[in-house]
Amino acid sequence: MRATAIAQPNIALIKYWGKRDAARNLPAVGSISITLSDLYTKMTVQTGAEFRRDSLLINGERNDQLLPRLSGCIDTVMGRQRDFVAIESSCNFPIAAGLASSASSFSAATVAAARVANVPLDTEALARLAGRASGSAARSLYGGFVELANEDENVVLSSLRDAESWPLVVNVAITETGPKAMGSGEAMEISRKTSPFYSTWVKQQSKDLDAARDAIRMRDFARLAAIAEHNCLKMHSVMWASRPPMVYWNSSTLQCLQTIRQLQNDGRGVFFTIDAGPQVKAVCLAEDADAVRRALTETPGVVKVMRSGLGLGARLLDRP
Ligand code: PMV
Repeated sequence: MRATAIAQPNIALIKYWGKRDAARNLPAVGSISITLSDLYTKMTVQTGAEFRRDSLLINGERNDQLLPRLSGCIDTVMGRQRDFVAIESSCNFPIAAGLASSASSFSAATVAAARVANVPLDTEALARLAGRASGSAARSLYGGFVELANEDENVVLSSLRDAESWPLVVNVAITETGPKAMGSGEAMEISRKTSPFYSTWVKQQSKDLDAARDAIRMRDFARLAAIAEHNCLKMHSVMWASRPPMVYWNSSTLQCLQTIRQLQNDGRGVFFTIDAGPQVKAVCLAEDADAVRRALTETPGVVKVMRSGLGLGARLLDRP
């Protein structure tokens, strides 16, 4: 059996940082994200009597480093007694560099594996399974504006608004293409255990979620900008105050923030957000996206700017 799925990464506007149950990978806080349209991971999962072990090719190259987590994700969907699988992934953006490649990889793997195992699961069930591998992967099962609420024992997903009804554009300024120093799972646990700001971060999250949810419902860009930037900098403050400290930024990350402040002063509709990596995601009103892209391209240290609209959730492809 063989199936191929495609998934887009998502960018959190209200961030998930910290786990309340590391064993089950349950987030300590809710989060809100936007799913992108132009960056993608395609993943083919294949079973066959000839396979003696799981294997993984990413963009045609064997990758044994990411294989254990993907195998674990496929176990969650197909069961531990499953046959071995050959996984082939192609991705049009740098992986493990703070660009949410885990979100698109694990959501695509979950959708493809469910098809191979012939288990009919609805989107919410698939999202829960993907979320066991990576919290942010759950959000990539949905398109547009997505909330991952953190209630009771269950993680509840909802679509706040579809991509067409508020067609924002994201310009991703890539300031470094290598893999990040520390994966977010490990970094979150360090923050939970050592950051003096961690409990305040968790306590304040529902207020930030309320503000962002309202701003998205009202399509109030200025309000969304203010809360998203605040939430992003608060998450990084938690990381910076952790022991050991975790600073994912480089000097170009800061230069990009200055470029965005200047664009805002010039009246452009743009705000920034940054995840566990040095890349800066500039969320823009469609009419200002080109000007933002030009300014970021000229910012010192920026290697490349990738532009994306908002897109759909993870889905099966008829053909690989
Ligand atoms: O789901 P993970 O383990 O890839 O962690 C995501 C962490 C952030 O990207 C920093 C925030 C988020 O909500 O996506």
